[in-house]
Amino acid sequence: MFTLLLFFHLTGLFFAYSVCLAIYRLYFSPLSKIPGPKLAAITWWYQFHYDVVNKGQYSWVVRSMHEKYGPIVRINPCEVHICESDFYETLYASGGLNRKRDKWTWDTVGAAGVADSALSTMNHDLHRMRRAAIAPFFSMQNVKKLQPIIQAKVDILRRRILERKGNTEAIDISHAFSALTNGTRRLAQIEALKLESSTISVESTHRTIFRELLSSKLPSEEKAPTRLATEAQVLVSAGSETTARALTHACYYLLTSPDVLTTLKTELEGAIPATDFTDSVPLEQVQRLPYLTAVIKESLRLSYGVVDSNASFRMKTCIFTNGLFPRVHRPERWLHNATLHRYLVSFGKGSRQCLGMNLAMSEMHLTLSSLLRWFGSGDVRRAHDLGQLELFETDESDIKMIGEVLVPVVKQDTKGVQIVIKT
Ligand code: HEM
Repeated sequence: MFTLLLFFHLTGLFFAYSVCLAIYRLYFSPLSKIPGPKLAAITWWYQFHYDVVNKGQYSWVVRSMHEKYGPIVRINPCEVHICESDFYETLYASGGLNRKRDKWTWDTVGAAGVADSALSTMNHDLHRMRRAAIAPFFSMQNVKKLQPIIQAKVDILRRRILERKGNTEAIDISHAFSALTNGTRRLAQIEALKLESSTISVESTHRTIFRELLSSKLPSEEKAPTRLATEAQVLVSAGSETTARALTHACYYLLTSPDVLTTLKTELEGAIPATDFTDSVPLEQVQRLPYLTAVIKESLRLSYGVVDSNASFRMKTCIFTNGLFPRVHRPERWLHNATLHRYLVSFGKGSRQCLGMNLAMSEMHLTLSSLLRWFGSGDVRRAHDLGQLELFETDESDIKMIGEVLVPVVKQDTKGVQIVIKT
Protein backbone atom coordinates (compact mmCIF):
# COMPACT_ATOMS: atom_id res chain seq x y z
CA MET A 1 0.00 0.00 0.00
CA PHE A 2 2.83 2.36 1.00
CA THR A 3 4.70 1.55 -2.23
CA LEU A 4 1.60 2.30 -4.28
CA LEU A 5 1.11 5.64 -2.50
CA LEU A 6 4.76 6.51 -3.06
CA PHE A 7 4.38 5.63 -6.74
CA PHE A 8 1.32 7.91 -7.11
CA HIS A 9 3.10 10.71 -5.26
CA LEU A 10 6.20 10.45 -7.44
CA THR A 11 4.10 10.26 -10.61
CA GLY A 12 2.13 13.30 -9.48
CA LEU A 13 5.32 15.20 -8.69
CA PHE A 14 6.83 14.30 -12.06
CA PHE A 15 3.63 15.37 -13.83
CA ALA A 16 3.53 18.70 -11.95
CA TYR A 17 7.23 19.28 -12.72
CA SER A 18 6.67 18.55 -16.42
CA VAL A 19 3.70 20.93 -16.59
CA CYS A 20 5.69 23.71 -14.83
CA LEU A 21 8.66 23.12 -17.16
CA ALA A 22 6.41 23.25 -20.23
CA ILE A 23 4.81 26.52 -19.00
CA TYR A 24 8.25 27.98 -18.30
CA ARG A 25 9.60 26.99 -21.72
CA LEU A 26 6.51 28.34 -23.50
CA TYR A 27 5.95 31.62 -21.66
CA PHE A 28 8.95 32.60 -19.51
CA SER A 29 12.06 31.25 -21.26
CA PRO A 30 14.25 33.93 -22.92
CA LEU A 31 13.38 32.15 -26.19
CA SER A 32 9.61 32.23 -25.60
CA LYS A 33 9.04 35.01 -28.15
CA ILE A 34 10.85 33.16 -30.96
CA PRO A 35 8.31 31.56 -33.33
CA GLY A 36 8.20 27.83 -33.96
CA PRO A 37 6.08 24.75 -33.21
CA LYS A 38 4.89 24.71 -29.58
CA LEU A 39 5.81 21.05 -29.20
CA ALA A 40 9.40 21.72 -30.28
CA ALA A 41 9.60 24.51 -27.67
CA ILE A 42 8.21 22.30 -24.89
CA THR A 43 10.15 19.09 -25.35
CA TRP A 44 13.31 17.61 -26.83
CA TRP A 45 11.33 14.50 -27.81
CA TYR A 46 10.09 16.38 -30.88
CA GLN A 47 13.62 16.70 -32.31
CA PHE A 48 14.53 13.22 -31.03
CA HIS A 49 11.69 11.76 -33.05
CA TYR A 50 12.96 13.20 -36.36
CA ASP A 51 16.67 12.91 -35.63
CA VAL A 52 16.79 9.44 -34.07
CA VAL A 53 13.56 7.57 -34.86
CA ASN A 54 13.34 8.96 -38.43
CA LYS A 55 17.14 8.86 -38.89
CA GLY A 56 18.55 12.35 -39.38
CA GLN A 57 15.47 14.10 -40.81
CA TYR A 58 15.25 17.11 -38.49
CA SER A 59 17.05 19.47 -40.90
CA TRP A 60 14.18 19.08 -43.36
CA VAL A 61 11.64 19.70 -40.60
CA VAL A 62 13.57 22.85 -39.67
CA ARG A 63 13.46 23.96 -43.29
CA SER A 64 9.66 23.65 -43.33
CA MET A 65 9.56 25.60 -40.03
CA HIS A 66 11.35 28.45 -41.82
CA GLU A 67 8.83 28.33 -44.65
CA LYS A 68 6.03 28.64 -42.11
CA TYR A 69 7.47 30.92 -39.39
CA GLY A 70 10.17 33.02 -41.13
CA PRO A 71 13.99 33.32 -40.93
CA ILE A 72 14.36 32.83 -37.15
CA VAL A 73 12.76 29.81 -35.50
CA ARG A 74 12.97 28.00 -32.18
CA ILE A 75 13.83 24.39 -32.97
CA ASN A 76 13.88 22.91 -29.44
CA PRO A 77 13.68 24.17 -25.83
CA CYS A 78 17.20 25.66 -25.97
CA GLU A 79 18.10 26.37 -29.58
CA VAL A 80 17.30 28.88 -32.25
CA HIS A 81 17.90 28.31 -35.96
CA ILE A 82 18.54 31.17 -38.35
CA CYS A 83 18.08 30.99 -42.11
CA GLU A 84 19.62 34.19 -43.39
CA SER A 85 22.83 33.86 -45.38
CA ASP A 86 24.02 37.41 -44.70
CA PHE A 87 23.85 36.82 -40.95
CA TYR A 88 26.35 33.95 -41.08
CA GLU A 89 29.45 36.07 -40.55
CA THR A 90 27.85 37.97 -37.67
CA LEU A 91 26.87 34.78 -35.88
CA TYR A 92 30.10 32.88 -36.48
CA ALA A 93 32.24 35.93 -35.84
CA SER A 94 36.01 35.77 -35.48
CA GLY A 95 36.90 35.78 -31.81
CA GLY A 96 37.57 39.42 -31.01
CA LEU A 97 37.41 40.70 -27.46
CA ASN A 98 33.64 41.05 -27.31
CA ARG A 99 32.82 38.26 -29.69
CA LYS A 100 33.57 35.20 -27.63
CA ARG A 101 31.85 32.02 -28.71
CA ASP A 102 31.84 29.08 -26.31
CA LYS A 103 30.74 25.79 -27.80
CA TRP A 104 27.68 24.33 -26.23
CA THR A 105 28.16 21.45 -23.75
CA TRP A 106 25.63 19.28 -25.56
CA ASP A 107 27.53 19.58 -28.79
CA THR A 108 30.67 18.12 -27.29
CA VAL A 109 28.84 15.07 -25.93
CA GLY A 110 29.30 13.40 -29.30
CA ALA A 111 33.01 14.10 -29.08
CA ALA A 112 33.59 11.42 -26.47
CA GLY A 113 37.22 10.36 -26.61
CA VAL A 114 38.42 13.55 -28.28
CA ALA A 115 37.11 16.03 -25.71
CA ASP A 116 40.56 17.56 -25.23
CA SER A 117 41.07 18.40 -28.88
CA ALA A 118 40.77 21.98 -30.16
CA LEU A 119 37.68 20.92 -32.16
CA SER A 120 35.79 19.82 -29.03
CA THR A 121 36.96 22.52 -26.65
CA MET A 122 34.00 24.38 -25.23
CA ASN A 123 35.66 27.39 -23.65
CA HIS A 124 36.45 30.15 -26.11
CA ASP A 125 39.82 31.17 -24.60
CA LEU A 126 41.11 27.62 -24.13
CA HIS A 127 40.08 26.82 -27.69
CA ARG A 128 41.90 29.91 -28.93
CA MET A 129 45.09 28.82 -27.15
CA ARG A 130 44.92 25.23 -28.47
CA ARG A 131 44.09 26.35 -31.99
CA ALA A 132 46.89 28.92 -32.05
CA ALA A 133 49.40 26.16 -31.26
CA ILE A 134 48.51 24.05 -34.33
CA ALA A 135 47.39 26.78 -36.74
CA PRO A 136 50.90 27.56 -38.15
CA PHE A 137 51.14 24.00 -39.45
CA PHE A 138 48.05 24.59 -41.60
CA SER A 139 49.13 27.96 -43.00
CA MET A 140 49.25 28.15 -46.80
CA GLN A 141 52.99 28.62 -46.60
CA ASN A 142 53.42 25.33 -44.73
CA VAL A 143 50.85 23.44 -46.81
CA LYS A 144 52.89 24.28 -49.93
CA LYS A 145 55.78 22.39 -48.33
CA LEU A 146 53.51 19.34 -48.01
CA GLN A 147 53.02 19.14 -51.78
CA PRO A 148 55.51 16.25 -52.23
CA ILE A 149 53.60 14.17 -49.64
CA ILE A 150 50.24 14.87 -51.27
CA GLN A 151 51.65 14.37 -54.76
CA ALA A 152 53.13 11.00 -53.79
CA LYS A 153 49.67 9.82 -52.68
CA VAL A 154 48.08 11.16 -55.86
CA ASP A 155 50.71 9.29 -57.91
CA ILE A 156 49.84 6.06 -56.10
CA LEU A 157 46.15 6.64 -56.84
CA ARG A 158 46.89 7.24 -60.52
CA ARG A 159 49.10 4.12 -60.66
CA ARG A 160 46.38 1.98 -59.06
CA ILE A 161 43.84 3.32 -61.57
CA LEU A 162 46.17 2.51 -64.44
CA GLU A 163 46.67 -1.02 -63.10
CA ARG A 164 42.91 -1.56 -63.29
CA LYS A 165 42.64 -0.38 -66.88
CA GLY A 166 40.66 -2.84 -68.95
CA ASN A 167 39.39 -4.66 -65.88
CA THR A 168 35.60 -5.01 -66.05
CA GLU A 169 35.23 -5.01 -62.27
CA ALA A 170 34.16 -1.57 -60.99
CA ILE A 171 35.83 0.26 -58.10
CA ASP A 172 34.12 2.57 -55.63
CA ILE A 173 36.05 5.77 -56.24
CA SER A 174 35.12 7.14 -52.79
CA HIS A 175 37.23 4.37 -51.23
CA ALA A 176 40.15 5.33 -53.42
CA PHE A 177 39.82 8.99 -52.38
CA SER A 178 39.47 8.02 -48.70
CA ALA A 179 42.68 6.00 -48.97
CA LEU A 180 44.40 9.02 -50.49
CA THR A 181 43.26 11.58 -47.90
CA ASN A 182 43.77 9.17 -45.03
CA GLY A 183 47.26 8.37 -46.25
CA THR A 184 48.25 12.03 -46.16
CA ARG A 185 46.89 12.35 -42.63
CA ARG A 186 48.51 9.14 -41.32
CA LEU A 187 51.71 11.06 -40.92
CA ALA A 188 50.16 12.99 -38.05
CA GLN A 189 48.88 9.83 -36.39
CA ILE A 190 52.23 8.06 -36.60
CA GLU A 191 53.89 11.04 -34.98
CA ALA A 192 51.34 10.90 -32.18
CA LEU A 193 51.97 7.22 -31.56
CA LYS A 194 55.70 7.86 -31.41
CA LEU A 195 54.94 10.60 -28.94
CA GLU A 196 53.05 8.27 -26.67
CA SER A 197 56.05 6.00 -26.53
CA SER A 198 58.21 9.10 -25.92
CA THR A 199 60.50 8.47 -28.85
CA ILE A 200 59.98 11.87 -30.43
CA SER A 201 61.71 14.93 -29.10
CA VAL A 202 61.63 18.62 -29.73
CA GLU A 203 65.12 18.29 -31.19
CA SER A 204 63.81 16.10 -34.02
CA THR A 205 64.77 17.79 -37.32
CA HIS A 206 61.67 16.81 -39.33
CA ARG A 207 59.04 19.56 -39.05
CA THR A 208 55.80 17.99 -37.89
CA ILE A 209 52.70 19.23 -36.19
CA PHE A 210 53.83 17.61 -32.95
CA ARG A 211 57.21 19.21 -33.04
CA GLU A 212 55.36 22.52 -33.42
CA LEU A 213 53.18 21.68 -30.44
CA LEU A 214 56.04 20.56 -28.23
CA SER A 215 58.05 23.68 -28.91
CA SER A 216 55.03 26.00 -28.60
CA LYS A 217 54.29 28.18 -25.60
CA LEU A 218 51.46 25.89 -24.47
CA PRO A 219 51.57 25.08 -20.73
CA SER A 220 53.06 21.64 -20.00
CA GLU A 221 49.71 19.96 -19.17
CA GLU A 222 48.58 20.88 -22.70
CA LYS A 223 51.55 18.95 -24.08
CA ALA A 224 50.66 15.69 -22.33
CA PRO A 225 50.93 12.75 -24.77
CA THR A 226 47.30 11.74 -24.27
CA ARG A 227 46.01 15.20 -25.21
CA LEU A 228 48.27 15.39 -28.23
CA ALA A 229 47.14 11.92 -29.31
CA THR A 230 43.56 13.19 -29.10
CA GLU A 231 44.46 16.14 -31.29
CA ALA A 232 46.05 13.73 -33.80
CA GLN A 233 42.93 11.58 -33.87
CA VAL A 234 40.82 14.60 -34.80
CA LEU A 235 43.27 15.74 -37.46
CA VAL A 236 43.20 12.32 -39.08
CA SER A 237 39.44 11.86 -38.98
CA ALA A 238 38.16 15.47 -39.42
CA GLY A 239 39.73 15.95 -42.82
CA SER A 240 39.74 12.54 -44.46
CA GLU A 241 36.10 11.73 -45.15
CA THR A 242 35.07 15.34 -45.80
CA THR A 243 37.77 15.84 -48.44
CA ALA A 244 37.16 12.39 -49.95
CA ARG A 245 33.42 13.10 -50.20
CA ALA A 246 34.02 16.41 -52.02
CA LEU A 247 36.38 14.63 -54.45
CA THR A 248 33.79 11.90 -55.04
CA HIS A 249 31.14 14.50 -55.82
CA ALA A 250 33.51 16.25 -58.21
CA CYS A 251 34.22 12.97 -59.96
CA TYR A 252 30.54 12.04 -60.26
CA TYR A 253 29.53 15.41 -61.72
CA LEU A 254 32.50 15.61 -64.09
CA LEU A 255 31.75 12.17 -65.49
CA THR A 256 28.08 12.99 -65.99
CA SER A 257 28.62 16.50 -67.45
CA PRO A 258 30.64 16.29 -70.70
CA ASP A 259 30.59 20.10 -71.16
CA VAL A 260 32.07 20.67 -67.71
CA LEU A 261 34.74 17.98 -68.20
CA THR A 262 35.64 19.36 -71.64
CA THR A 263 36.11 22.89 -70.25
CA LEU A 264 38.17 21.55 -67.36
CA LYS A 265 40.39 19.38 -69.54
CA THR A 266 41.00 22.30 -71.92
CA GLU A 267 42.10 24.44 -68.98
CA LEU A 268 44.32 21.66 -67.59
CA GLU A 269 45.92 21.02 -71.00
CA GLY A 270 46.87 24.70 -71.18
CA ALA A 271 48.50 24.55 -67.76
CA ILE A 272 50.10 21.10 -67.70
CA PRO A 273 52.26 20.24 -70.73
CA ALA A 274 51.85 16.82 -72.31
CA THR A 275 55.40 15.67 -71.64
CA ASP A 276 55.56 13.17 -68.81
CA PHE A 277 52.46 12.46 -66.76
CA THR A 278 54.55 11.78 -63.65
CA ASP A 279 55.95 15.36 -63.67
CA SER A 280 54.36 17.34 -60.88
CA VAL A 281 53.04 20.85 -61.41
CA PRO A 282 53.60 23.50 -58.70
CA LEU A 283 50.62 23.81 -56.36
CA GLU A 284 50.42 27.59 -56.89
CA GLN A 285 50.00 26.99 -60.61
CA VAL A 286 47.01 24.64 -60.30
CA GLN A 287 45.47 26.78 -57.56
CA ARG A 288 45.39 29.70 -59.97
CA LEU A 289 43.23 27.80 -62.48
CA PRO A 290 39.79 29.46 -62.30
CA TYR A 291 37.68 26.65 -63.75
CA LEU A 292 39.29 23.93 -61.63
CA THR A 293 38.71 26.09 -58.55
CA ALA A 294 35.08 26.61 -59.59
CA VAL A 295 34.63 22.83 -59.98
CA ILE A 296 36.04 22.32 -56.47
CA LYS A 297 33.82 24.99 -54.92
CA GLU A 298 30.76 23.49 -56.57
CA SER A 299 31.71 20.02 -55.28
CA LEU A 300 32.26 21.37 -51.76
CA ARG A 301 28.88 23.06 -51.90
CA LEU A 302 27.01 19.95 -53.02
CA SER A 303 28.85 17.53 -50.73
CA TYR A 304 27.91 19.70 -47.71
CA GLY A 305 31.01 18.93 -45.58
CA VAL A 306 29.95 19.00 -41.94
CA VAL A 307 26.20 19.49 -41.83
CA ASP A 308 25.81 20.56 -38.24
CA SER A 309 27.20 23.77 -36.81
CA ASN A 310 28.23 23.64 -33.22
CA ALA A 311 26.57 26.54 -31.50
CA SER A 312 23.33 26.91 -29.65
CA PHE A 313 22.35 29.32 -32.40
CA ARG A 314 22.52 27.31 -35.58
CA MET A 315 22.66 27.94 -39.29
CA LYS A 316 22.66 25.20 -41.84
CA THR A 317 23.24 27.56 -44.67
CA CYS A 318 24.57 24.93 -47.07
CA ILE A 319 21.26 23.14 -47.13
CA PHE A 320 18.97 26.07 -46.73
CA THR A 321 20.19 28.66 -49.20
CA ASN A 322 18.44 27.03 -52.11
CA GLY A 323 17.34 30.37 -53.54
CA LEU A 324 20.98 31.44 -53.63
CA PHE A 325 22.32 28.04 -54.63
CA PRO A 326 20.00 25.74 -56.58
CA ARG A 327 20.71 22.02 -56.29
CA VAL A 328 21.92 21.85 -59.92
CA HIS A 329 25.67 21.39 -60.46
CA ARG A 330 27.06 24.39 -62.38
CA PRO A 331 30.67 25.44 -61.70
CA GLU A 332 30.24 28.54 -63.90
CA ARG A 333 28.25 30.23 -61.13
CA TRP A 334 31.57 30.85 -59.29
CA LEU A 335 33.14 32.53 -62.33
CA HIS A 336 30.46 35.08 -62.96
CA ASN A 337 29.66 36.25 -59.45
CA ALA A 338 32.58 37.44 -57.33
CA THR A 339 30.45 37.95 -54.20
CA LEU A 340 29.15 34.39 -54.14
CA HIS A 341 32.24 33.03 -52.39
CA ARG A 342 31.23 34.56 -49.05
CA TYR A 343 28.19 32.29 -49.02
CA LEU A 344 30.22 29.11 -49.38
CA VAL A 345 30.33 27.90 -45.80
CA SER A 346 31.50 24.30 -46.18
CA PHE A 347 34.46 25.10 -43.93
CA GLY A 348 32.41 27.09 -41.42
CA LYS A 349 33.26 30.67 -40.49
CA GLY A 350 34.74 32.66 -37.65
CA SER A 351 36.88 31.49 -34.77
CA ARG A 352 35.90 27.83 -35.22
CA GLN A 353 36.41 27.76 -38.96
CA CYS A 354 38.08 24.64 -40.35
CA LEU A 355 41.81 24.62 -39.66
CA GLY A 356 42.55 22.23 -42.50
CA MET A 357 40.94 24.36 -45.21
CA ASN A 358 44.22 25.14 -47.06
CA LEU A 359 45.28 21.50 -46.87
CA ALA A 360 41.91 20.25 -48.12
CA MET A 361 41.85 22.74 -51.02
CA SER A 362 45.42 21.80 -51.98
CA GLU A 363 44.63 18.09 -51.92
CA MET A 364 41.61 18.65 -54.13
CA HIS A 365 43.50 20.85 -56.60
CA LEU A 366 46.37 18.38 -56.92
CA THR A 367 44.17 15.27 -57.12
CA LEU A 368 41.68 16.53 -59.67
CA SER A 369 44.29 18.20 -61.87
CA SER A 370 46.58 15.14 -61.89
CA LEU A 371 43.70 12.78 -62.55
CA LEU A 372 41.67 14.65 -65.13
CA ARG A 373 44.60 15.98 -67.13
CA TRP A 374 45.34 12.35 -68.00
CA PHE A 375 41.99 10.59 -67.92
CA GLY A 376 38.82 11.28 -69.89
CA SER A 377 35.30 9.86 -69.79
CA GLY A 378 33.09 7.90 -72.19
CA ASP A 379 32.08 11.20 -73.82
CA VAL A 380 35.28 13.23 -73.51
CA ARG A 381 38.43 11.68 -74.97
CA ARG A 382 41.74 13.36 -75.75
CA ALA A 383 44.79 12.08 -77.64
CA HIS A 384 47.08 12.14 -74.58
CA ASP A 385 44.63 10.42 -72.22
CA LEU A 386 45.93 7.34 -70.41
CA GLY A 387 42.41 5.91 -70.13
CA GLN A 388 38.74 6.69 -69.65
CA LEU A 389 36.83 6.73 -66.38
CA GLU A 390 33.25 5.56 -66.79
CA LEU A 391 30.49 5.39 -64.22
CA PHE A 392 29.05 1.94 -63.62
CA GLU A 393 25.51 1.44 -62.24
CA THR A 394 25.70 4.82 -60.49
CA ASP A 395 23.27 7.72 -60.53
CA GLU A 396 22.71 10.89 -58.49
CA SER A 397 20.87 8.96 -55.77
CA ASP A 398 24.23 7.39 -54.84
CA ILE A 399 25.58 10.74 -53.67
CA LYS A 400 22.41 12.63 -52.73
CA MET A 401 22.01 13.47 -49.06
CA ILE A 402 18.78 12.06 -47.63
CA GLY A 403 19.57 12.46 -43.93
CA GLU A 404 22.30 13.79 -41.66
CA VAL A 405 24.16 12.69 -38.58
CA LEU A 406 26.66 15.52 -38.37
CA VAL A 407 27.79 14.37 -41.82
CA PRO A 408 25.48 13.73 -44.80
CA VAL A 409 23.82 10.32 -45.12
CA VAL A 410 22.97 8.80 -48.52
CA LYS A 411 20.56 5.96 -49.31
CA GLN A 412 21.33 2.77 -47.38
CA ASP A 413 21.67 0.37 -50.30
CA THR A 414 24.13 2.47 -52.29
CA LYS A 415 27.17 0.75 -53.75
CA GLY A 416 28.96 4.09 -53.94
CA VAL A 417 30.23 5.91 -57.00
CA GLN A 418 31.41 2.95 -59.07
CA ILE A 419 33.86 3.43 -61.87
CA VAL A 420 35.39 1.20 -64.53
CA ILE A 421 38.62 2.19 -66.23
CA LYS A 422 38.60 1.71 -70.00
CA THR A 423 41.36 2.04 -72.59
C1 HEM B 1 36.52 19.31 -47.65
C2 HEM B 1 37.14 19.11 -46.52
C3 HEM B 1 36.75 19.70 -45.18
C4 HEM B 1 35.57 20.25 -44.78
C5 HEM B 1 34.31 20.47 -45.61
C6 HEM B 1 35.72 20.63 -43.39
C7 HEM B 1 34.75 21.27 -42.62
C8 HEM B 1 34.94 21.71 -41.32
C9 HEM B 1 33.98 22.47 -40.55
C10 HEM B 1 32.60 22.92 -41.05
C11 HEM B 1 34.52 22.72 -39.34
C12 HEM B 1 33.88 23.50 -38.19
C13 HEM B 1 33.21 22.51 -37.25
C14 HEM B 1 32.56 23.23 -36.08
O1 HEM B 1 31.58 23.92 -36.29
O2 HEM B 1 33.05 23.08 -34.99
C15 HEM B 1 35.84 22.12 -39.32
C16 HEM B 1 36.69 22.17 -38.25
C17 HEM B 1 37.94 21.60 -38.26
N1 HEM B 1 38.56 20.95 -39.30
FE1 HEM B 1 37.81 20.68 -41.15
N2 HEM B 1 36.98 20.28 -42.97
C18 HEM B 1 37.64 19.72 -44.04
C19 HEM B 1 38.95 19.27 -44.08
C20 HEM B 1 39.81 19.30 -43.00
C21 HEM B 1 41.20 18.85 -43.03
C22 HEM B 1 41.93 18.33 -44.28
C23 HEM B 1 41.69 18.99 -41.76
C24 HEM B 1 43.06 18.68 -41.23
C25 HEM B 1 43.77 17.65 -41.48
C26 HEM B 1 40.62 19.55 -40.95
C27 HEM B 1 40.74 19.85 -39.61
C28 HEM B 1 39.80 20.54 -38.88
C29 HEM B 1 40.00 20.95 -37.50
C30 HEM B 1 41.24 20.71 -36.65
C31 HEM B 1 38.84 21.62 -37.10
C32 HEM B 1 38.56 22.27 -35.74
C33 HEM B 1 38.89 23.75 -35.83
C34 HEM B 1 38.64 24.48 -34.52
O3 HEM B 1 37.75 24.09 -33.76
O4 HEM B 1 39.32 25.48 -34.29
N3 HEM B 1 39.50 19.72 -41.72
N4 HEM B 1 36.07 21.50 -40.55
